[in-house]
Amino acid sequence: MGESNYASLEVNGKKIELPIIESSDGDNGIDISRLRAETGYITFDNGFSNTASSISNITHIDGEQGELRIRGYNIEDLVHNCSFREVAYLLVHGSLPTRDQLTAFSSYLNEHSLIDEDMHHFFSGFPRNGHPMAILAAMVTSLSSFYPDLEDTKDQSFDITAARLVSKVRTIAAFSYRKSKGQALVYPRHDLNYCSNFLNMMFDSSVKPYHIDPLYAKILDKLLILHVDHGQNCSTTAVKLIGSAKANLYAAISAGICALWGPLHGGANQAVVEMLENIMADDGDVQKYIGMAKDRDNAFRLMGFGHAIYKNYDPRAKLAKELVDELFSSREINDPLLDIARKLEAAALSDEFFIERKLYPNIDFYTGILYRALGIPTNMLTVMFVIGRLPGWIAQWKEFIDNKSRIFRPRQIYVGPDLRSFVEIDKR
Ligand code: SDX
Repeated sequence: MGESNYASLEVNGKKIELPIIESSDGDNGIDISRLRAETGYITFDNGFSNTASSISNITHIDGEQGELRIRGYNIEDLVHNCSFREVAYLLVHGSLPTRDQLTAFSSYLNEHSLIDEDMHHFFSGFPRNGHPMAILAAMVTSLSSFYPDLEDTKDQSFDITAARLVSKVRTIAAFSYRKSKGQALVYPRHDLNYCSNFLNMMFDSSVKPYHIDPLYAKILDKLLILHVDHGQNCSTTAVKLIGSAKANLYAAISAGICALWGPLHGGANQAVVEMLENIMADDGDVQKYIGMAKDRDNAFRLMGFGHAIYKNYDPRAKLAKELVDELFSSREINDPLLDIARKLEAAALSDEFFIERKLYPNIDFYTGILYRALGIPTNMLTVMFVIGRLPGWIAQWKEFIDNKSRIFRPRQIYVGPDLRSFVEIDKR
C-alpha cells in the first residue's frame, strides 16, 4: 500500500490504484467498487470476514483488545451507569437522552406496549410447544399488517415505529410464554418500567401475585444492554439485506430474528444451557466435552466459546460474569450448571487448542445461566437476545436507509457446467 490513500493492485500485468477508506478505529478499507470494471476480476471472501458491508458510525469493536463501544461509549460504562431504555434511545437517536427525552421515550414505550387484540388469535394457531422464536418472527412480520409503513426515517413516525417495536416485541415475547403454558395473558401496566413489566407479564398470576424483585429487574435491564448492538453480525446483516430491497422494517426485523435463531449465532445461549445440562447428565465430565470440541472429526463445538471478531475475552462475557456474581451471591441461588460452566471455562482457557486459536467465552456463555436464574425457560433465551438486540437492528437499518445504500447483491465464483443442450425426458 502506497503512502498515499491508495492501494496498488497488479493483476494480469495491469496495475490499478484502489482508494483507501480511512476508519476512526484503524480497520481501514480498500474500496474495490471499480475492481471488476477495471480488471474483470471480483473478490472472494468466505464468510465476508475480510469485507466491510457498510460504513457505520454506530458500534466499534476491537476484537484483538476485547473492546466494544456503542456510539462511542464503552459497554462497561453503559452497563454500569444506564438503563436499557437510555441505551435504546442512544442507539436509535445517536446520543444519550436528556431527562425530558427519556421521559418522552418511556411514554412512547408505554403507549405502544399493547398489541392489536386481533393478533391474540395468532397465538392459538401455534402448537403449545412451538418454539418462541418461530412465533416471534411470525408476529413481528404481521405487525406490518396492523401498523402503517414508515413514512420517513427523519420524522416522528420513525420514533413511534422504533418505540412500537421495542415495546411490542417485549409484549409478544411474554404473551408467547403465557400461551405456551396455557395461562391467561398478563397485560403490560403503565406503572411499571420496561423490565419490571416484562417480568410481571411473564410470571404474574391471579392466584399467586408475582413479586417483582428489584434486583431481578436490574439484572434483566443490564442483560438487555449487553445485547444491544454488535456491528455487522449475521442477524444485523440480514436486517440490512432485507432493508436494502426497501422491504418494510417489520419484515427486516423478522429476518433478523430468524438469522439470530441459529445456534452459531444468538441461538448459542440456548445451546450453551443444553450443553451444560448434557455435561451435568454425564457426571460433569468437562474434559470429555473439551476433547470432543478439539476432535476435528467431531461436529461438536464448545457453545458460548469463540467468536468471529473477538480473539480475546468478549467484554460482554466479563460483564455477564459480574452480574452472575452479583445475583448469585445476593439471592443465594444455587444452579449446578454454573459450577459446570466455571469448570468448563477454566479447562478450556488452560488448553493449548483453545489458547492457540484464541477461543474465549463469548456473550452467550454465561447469559443463559443468568436468564435461568430469573426464571426464564431455556427455549426463551434467544427471544431475550432479540429483545436486547432490537434497538441495534433498528439503528443499523436506519443508518443504512439514510445512507441511501445500494441493494445487497453479491456476485459469485461460478464453477458449474458450461452450456448444455436440452434433451427431452424420454431421450435422457
Ligand atoms: C454471537 O458476530 C457477532 O458479533 C455475533 C454476536 C453478536 O453479538 O451479534 O457476538 C453473537 O453469535 C456470539 C457467538 C455465539 N456462537 C457460539 O458460541 C457457537 C460456538 N462458536 C463457534 O461456532 C465459532 O466460534 C463461531 C461461529 C462463533 C465463529 O466461527 P469462526 O469465525 O469460523 O471461528 P474461527 O475462525 O475463530 O475458528 C478458528 C478455529 C477453527 O478450527 P481450525 O480450523 O483452526 O482447526 O477454532 C475452531 C474452528 O473450528 N473453533 C472452535 C470453536 N470456535 C472456533 N472449536 C471448538 N469450539 C468452538 N466453539
